[in-house]
Amino acid sequence: MPGILLGDVFPDFEADTTVGRIKFYDFLGDSWGIMFSHPKDFTPVCTTELAFAASISDKFTERNVKMIALSVDNVDDHIFWSKDVMAFNSSTAPLPFPIIADANRKLATLLGMMDPDEIDRDGNPLTARCVFVIGPDKKLKMSCLYPATTGRNFDELLRVIDSLQLTAQKKVATPVDWRPGDKVMVLPNISDEEAAKLFPNGVTTKDVPSGKKYLRYTRL
Ligand code: BEZ
Repeated sequence: MPGILLGDVFPDFEADTTVGRIKFYDFLGDSWGIMFSHPKDFTPVCTTELAFAASISDKFTERNVKMIALSVDNVDDHIFWSKDVMAFNSSTAPLPFPIIADANRKLATLLGMMDPDEIDRDGNPLTARCVFVIGPDKKLKMSCLYPATTGRNFDELLRVIDSLQLTAQKKVATPVDWRPGDKVMVLPNISDEEAAKLFPNGVTTKDVPSGKKYLRYTRL
């Protein structure tokens, strides 16, 4: 089955986009990347999603993350629809990220982004609401796949990127609903001795009925 798994190297494809033809690795450079598909231009949920993504694009830039969208529509439709997307934000500025035109569905099929249950009025298959986060090493760090009927939360994607970037640097994991500045958890494969050396702010352990000392917190 086509698709891409965590840790796989993301393919270096060429594609037509709203900013011309791109080579994906050249587009990314040394940055992180977030690639997200939507089912169809000129549809309501997609418009709200891309408008929100555009409104917080500065926050992705601050985190050194390049954004790129994708759907099965052509470049002309993407460019025309982009104006609606920005108008939804009461803006006449250009969309701050490109959209890939994958009209032949080659890329979406390769990457496992198609939604088998979703077809347009002409019976053509559509992309799901897929998200890939790609690291500077070009490996897949996170993916998610929502159906066409459920819009995503782009604030949550920023939170995930904060966790991915932190845990790429430090031997920690981030707990439920973690936000930057909150306590983090010591990785289970780190011994108490190593943890004491790695985390000068100290490690606290929450007691649990099992008596096992696995809920170890630290502050960075
Ligand atoms: C939407 O964006 O609203 C949408 C697109 C395709 C199927 C269902 C909803």
